[in-house]
Amino acid sequence: MKPNTLSEKKTDQNWYSPDSVSLEDLKILTGQKVTLRDYPLASDIGGGQVPLYDCAALRRLLAQPEGRCRIMAEWVSALKDGPGIIVLKQAFDDVEALDHVTVQFEKLIANERRNGMETGDHFAKKGANDRVWNALEKLCLLDPEGFVRYYANDMIALVSEAWLGPAYQITSQVNVVNPGGEAQSVHRDYHLGFQSPQQVSQYPAHVHALSPFLTLQGAVAHCDMPLESGPTLYMPFTQKYGPGYLATQTPEVREWFNENYLQLPLHKGDAVFFSPALFHAAGSNRSRSTRRMANLLQVSSAFGRAMESMDRARMARALYPVLQEHNRDQSLAQEAIGRVIAASAEGYAFPTNLDRDPPIGGLAPQSQQALFRQALEENWAEARFVEALAERVRSTLT
Ligand SMILES: [Fe+2]
Repeated sequence: MKPNTLSEKKTDQNWYSPDSVSLEDLKILTGQKVTLRDYPLASDIGGGQVPLYDCAALRRLLAQPEGRCRIMAEWVSALKDGPGIIVLKQAFDDVEALDHVTVQFEKLIANERRNGMETGDHFAKKGANDRVWNALEKLCLLDPEGFVRYYANDMIALVSEAWLGPAYQITSQVNVVNPGGEAQSVHRDYHLGFQSPQQVSQYPAHVHALSPFLTLQGAVAHCDMPLESGPTLYMPFTQKYGPGYLATQTPEVREWFNENYLQLPLHKGDAVFFSPALFHAAGSNRSRSTRRMANLLQVSSAFGRAMESMDRARMARALYPVLQEHNRDQSLAQEAIGRVIAASAEGYAFPTNLDRDPPIGGLAPQSQQALFRQALEENWAEARFVEALAERVRSTLT
């Protein structure tokens, strides 16, 4: 075998490019149906593909030995190897607690509107909806008692532990799509789902496979969501598609998604959980009066963090004059300067404070490394870089 042929094969196996995307493969993958035989704890199957669980029945099962393990095992199998999505009917049996939190969310929205805060959504037009970033902390501080009743919920904890194991951490964003609000474009979610095709292509294939295991995506319905109100559009089984982070960003796949998605109505108190790699998009709200409110939950693995914490901004401040000098007199190659920045400054824009650092006009805010590179390229004075760095740090803090 020619060495370059083997090399090419290894490259194709370990890195995706736009050429890796095949609509035919996607059609075959998503043509599968599931039945109650596949998911015996489910009470029904939605659209021939999505297991629906009656949480009252699950709560009875939870009282039995082995009940907890059986439920978690079935959910993992559905989320990982099956359609990638489950619906938990009446996940919130304490409707009063849910309604109470709805009122608090409305207060947060009204407050932020009054304060003229400009919120945006990664995948929808600006102003099409109301969004409260970091609703977890805001609700907690506004109404600790309401928070306690809401997050005492057993189903959120159970599905989070099923997908991520213990020590998970929750974040929440309120999303209200108003009548007339248009659908989002199809996407995958955090982490790789928030990167451009060019960025996505730089990560090896096994990182594409890893990304969805670091987060669980969920939505709690805070009102009834009939189809005309635009509950989320899904394409079951797409979480298993290797080059999916590139596929969702191609016109051909977007068109196919828009013509073939599955949409399930929800009732107040229902929750949907899905793999962040599932192709999905919020639907358009064609109702006259339903302000479609969902609490979007992103639950993170304990493992998406470094072992040590450090002040990377302080490191960047110390390195800037040194690298600037090397840059000016060309005593270090650009590539070498890039490697020093990669070894010191923060390369990732998250976690951040999305109120101060909204993703309007792009998928992710600028990272510390990107700022560092820009400052060197444009030869900023040190004081300007220090100030921009401080601003970057401020915008990420709550
Ligand atoms: Fe999403």
